[in-house]
Amino acid sequence: MIEFQENFLIQNEILCLRNSEIDELSIQTHLKRLKLFRKGPYKLNEIFVPSQWNSYIKWKYLEPILLSIFDIFAQKKDTFWILDIGSNNGYYSFLIYYFFKKYQQNPRMILIDPVEEFYHQFLFLSQFLPEEDRKNFEFHKIGWENIHNLNQKYDLILCMGIFYHQYNPIDLFKTIHSILKTKGYIILETITVQLESYPLFLIPEKKYSGAKGIWFIPNKMAVEVLLKRLNFQEVRFHSERFIFEEMKNLEYLPGLEQVIDKKDKHFTIEGYPVPYRSFFSAKK
Ligand SMILES: C[S@@+](CC[C@H](N)C(=O)[O-])C[C@H]1O[C@@H](n2cnc3c(N)ncnc32)[C@H](O)[C@@H]1O
Repeated sequence: MIEFQENFLIQNEILCLRNSEIDELSIQTHLKRLKLFRKGPYKLNEIFVPSQWNSYIKWKYLEPILLSIFDIFAQKKDTFWILDIGSNNGYYSFLIYYFFKKYQQNPRMILIDPVEEFYHQFLFLSQFLPEEDRKNFEFHKIGWENIHNLNQKYDLILCMGIFYHQYNPIDLFKTIHSILKTKGYIILETITVQLESYPLFLIPEKKYSGAKGIWFIPNKMAVEVLLKRLNFQEVRFHSERFIFEEMKNLEYLPGLEQVIDKKDKHFTIEGYPVPYRSFFSAKK
């Protein structure tokens, strides 16, 4: 069990939130209206909420990065502004907020995601937070393309699971650079392919691993070169994992055997190198 604070903990890889003022009937009623959760799973009071992905696995990779780049023991009085791009229902925003709070920092979370259903899931989940924490969260139903409208600069920007869906990934990095405070950090997580030797992007002709909407899949070197060319400092590669690690709930997703070549597990059904997920960080 990992306890972040009372009524907010991870147990058996499930994010457990508790608010005694919300009754079971109200939870069930809300859950019927909300679509399947992609990020989770959660336990809300005594009710289990399943999800497509086991999101805890990504957190296991993310937490050591936060510990390695931030001096969390140096207490800061100033507000620590964090932006979560493509926050989905807020799973990682909740964890990151309580991670910094545990170390007596003063976090303020801004979540952006243009998808209506994720906004409603977030609103529902955030009711389980105490009022004093809830007021430190803001969710905007916008894409990163409109982030300048918020007129804010950030100490930390999370860009996880976004990069390969963009058809203008250079603009994405330029935008992030422009809204980071000096000495602020980006933490980037993206699909990568294990093609070494040169900085390269794989462009799938149609689908990749059975998925649509994937444009550019970099190798590790390509991410590093791009960040450096766009004036980020201290570019670091942190970790790489096989993408299907967190696909625990295969009842909701295509199984490995449906997207990996049966004859050679190094390739997808489309004939491309199999996907990995890699974490990077960089400083402005
Ligand atoms: C693959 S999910 C990643 C979710 C989460 N960040 C994670 O790492 O698990 C991509 C998310 O980005 C959101 N999204 C799509 N287009 C976006 C855009 N232009 N700006 C910000 N978020 C976007 C989607 O709605 C979705 O919630």
